[in-house]
Amino acid sequence: MRASSVLVTGANGEIGHGLIARLAALGRPIVTIDVAPLEPDLARLVRREFTGSITDRGLLERILAEFEIDRVFHLAALLSTRAEFTPIAAHDVNVGGTLNLLEFAHHEGQSHGRPVVFLYPSSVAAYGLPDLDTKTRAKRVREDEWNTPITMYGCNKLYCEHLGRYYAHHYKQLAADPAARRVDFRCVRFPGLISALTVPSGGTSDYAPEMIHAAARGEPYTCFVRPDTRIPFMAMPDAIDALLTLASVPCERLTRTAYNLAAFSPTAAEICNVVQKAFPAASISWDVDSKRQRIIDSWPAEVDDNAARRDWGFAPRYDFAGAFDDYLIPTIKERYS
Ligand code: SER
Repeated sequence: MRASSVLVTGANGEIGHGLIARLAALGRPIVTIDVAPLEPDLARLVRREFTGSITDRGLLERILAEFEIDRVFHLAALLSTRAEFTPIAAHDVNVGGTLNLLEFAHHEGQSHGRPVVFLYPSSVAAYGLPDLDTKTRAKRVREDEWNTPITMYGCNKLYCEHLGRYYAHHYKQLAADPAARRVDFRCVRFPGLISALTVPSGGTSDYAPEMIHAAARGEPYTCFVRPDTRIPFMAMPDAIDALLTLASVPCERLTRTAYNLAAFSPTAAEICNVVQKAFPAASISWDVDSKRQRIIDSWPAEVDDNAARRDWGFAPRYDFAGAFDDYLIPTIKERYS
């Protein structure tokens, strides 16, 4: 008899860190995949760790043979800045890897006879606004507006949202005996995420977490976007809560497969002010990288998350002030003390 477990891909990443601790606290047996060995603190919490790539179908077959997976948190991805330097590798991981995982989930569902709940973090990068005027006029962008991303990462995320919807509702629709619904695909479009415990790498929204962590470490920071740059952000605990809540909600309540999430939308200057107040010695300067700025300017300043609030009760704990005062600053100060 195979053991029933949760599979987390990209387990070593920023979301993985927070999620694995929460899943372990809930008593869920966890199986992980990451290209790098798990950090010892995380490794202790999981039942089995596989070091390898989601592009390796042989690895997924081994997991299929050994474990009964009823839930997948598919977090592995190459983020937006990194993906622009290696677009084909990004496509292989972000799209090829996701397709492998969806097929894996379908076969898991077939083998144990229940749909596999498949959680997928998409991104505000799935949007692409053509210029700043349009961004200002667009206000709170809804899920189906401005789906014209300008990055490889954004294209990958948007396409995989559709792949997930296909697996959930239309898989092999012309077969003589169309497959039963085996993949229960649920996706959130995350804004930029800010964690007190980890620093991201390879993203374009990284200026916010980088600024905060540099100040806490007493290091100078040069911000690569203009002070008036505005995109949505969210504190990591709210992102983890959102994934866990969406995973547990009865599927009848869901009216879509991809949901916007929002918490607060500060400008880079507003983030700088709060950081400077918390760390008066912080040295923050500005040197705009026009190419990365172009990417950030194509992402909306605000998104409309009414569908998530209505369908599954999404309600972030932290607004801008609360995220800094009650979570980021105290936790980061403790971390670097
Ligand atoms: N934070 C991500 C990035 O900057 C967007 O999802 O690439």
